[in-house]
Amino acid sequence: MAVAELTSPASAYTHTTTRLRSSSQLSLSSTHLSLRFRRSFSPRNTTITCSINQVQAPVPVQTQKPKDKSECFGVFCQTYDLRAEEETKSWKKLINIAVSGAAGMISNHLLFKLASGEVFGPDQPIALKLLGSERSFQALEGVAMELEDSLYPLLREVSIGINPYEVFEDIEWALLIGAKPRGPGMERAGLLDINGQIYAEQGKALNAVASRNVKVIVVGNPCNTNALICLKNAPNIPAKNFHALTRLDENRAKCQLALKAGVFYDKVSNVTIWGNHSTTQVPDFLNARINGLPVKEVIKDHKWLEEEFTEIVQKRGGVLIQKWGRSSAASTAVSIVDAIKSLIIPTPEGDWFSSGVYTNGNLYGIAEGLVFSMPCRSKGDGDYEIVKDVIFDDYLLKKITKVLT
Ligand code: LMR
Repeated sequence: MAVAELTSPASAYTHTTTRLRSSSQLSLSSTHLSLRFRRSFSPRNTTITCSINQVQAPVPVQTQKPKDKSECFGVFCQTYDLRAEEETKSWKKLINIAVSGAAGMISNHLLFKLASGEVFGPDQPIALKLLGSERSFQALEGVAMELEDSLYPLLREVSIGINPYEVFEDIEWALLIGAKPRGPGMERAGLLDINGQIYAEQGKALNAVASRNVKVIVVGNPCNTNALICLKNAPNIPAKNFHALTRLDENRAKCQLALKAGVFYDKVSNVTIWGNHSTTQVPDFLNARINGLPVKEVIKDHKWLEEEFTEIVQKRGGVLIQKWGRSSAASTAVSIVDAIKSLIIPTPEGDWFSSGVYTNGNLYGIAEGLVFSMPCRSKGDGDYEIVKDVIFDDYLLKKITKVLT
């Protein structure tokens, strides 16, 4: 048995600065480990003797060089050993998520939800790839710094960049938020010229470098047209993988129906938004349910449903801009979370969710080649089917036709 002797100076009686006298004195020989403290009464000469028997020599931690990736940010350039953690904690394989407009208000709510595990689950490590513009680059660094400081265990990588061809590499989710927002008095369609170009470019970049199975949620307005532009520029990615966010409208519709019926909003289901995320959208109260009953049986004021309800939902975003001076951010982020969860969690029996999807051979005879919001169901595998069994009356048909003309 060999002995390792450590001597600590008097000032370090608490052993905080204990010093190894000779490393060659440390040896390993039996199956137990013992520590023996030999202290003289003089605190100046505190000696600690440590005998270690047949303990395996510690394997030096392999600290690899930071990843050779110019765009990784700060602490996220450090190497982590995901495989070891997968073994012990059954964490899933890392997924790559790109967020455009990452320095904006919506992203500021969304990114922390993604990083916390609230969206993809507590066993799903993620990499966030943040896309900004030259103008917003410093702000993007600020966002990444806040992500660093939040110490989220599931957040394994953060990279920032302004080139979609770099940022979108191998991504499995693209949350495309970046766009010029509308101001008071504007319609969303008024943004098409400037935002359309952004989405054409991003479609091309997705086509070139993203995973072939990437799921794309377009948020920047006008989101239906932007989603269409994006998917047309990404012919190697299934058009079915592109969504325009109408979940915010669905959530708004649920809230209004709950308010009118005097119930909490979890009692409202089967709400479809038909059409575009615009003032022509049709929030469908005919098929919607409250406590499992048709809305029209619960809310007898049908005039309210046809006139006020529809208009409130259609114009909610604009009213918010008038009041707040800028467009919705937190509720949009929440609805993006809802939209993602709708695709990765099986839809509850009998219910559905709304999403703007590509109208290729759809059941309802809606013109082909559009991105149009319809009722969808998912098995939770990232894919969806359009719901077959909704009913129409003259009012609903007339409203939907109006979207298309
Ligand atoms: C919303 O609906 O709140 C957003 O699309 C922002 C807007 O322009 O209305």
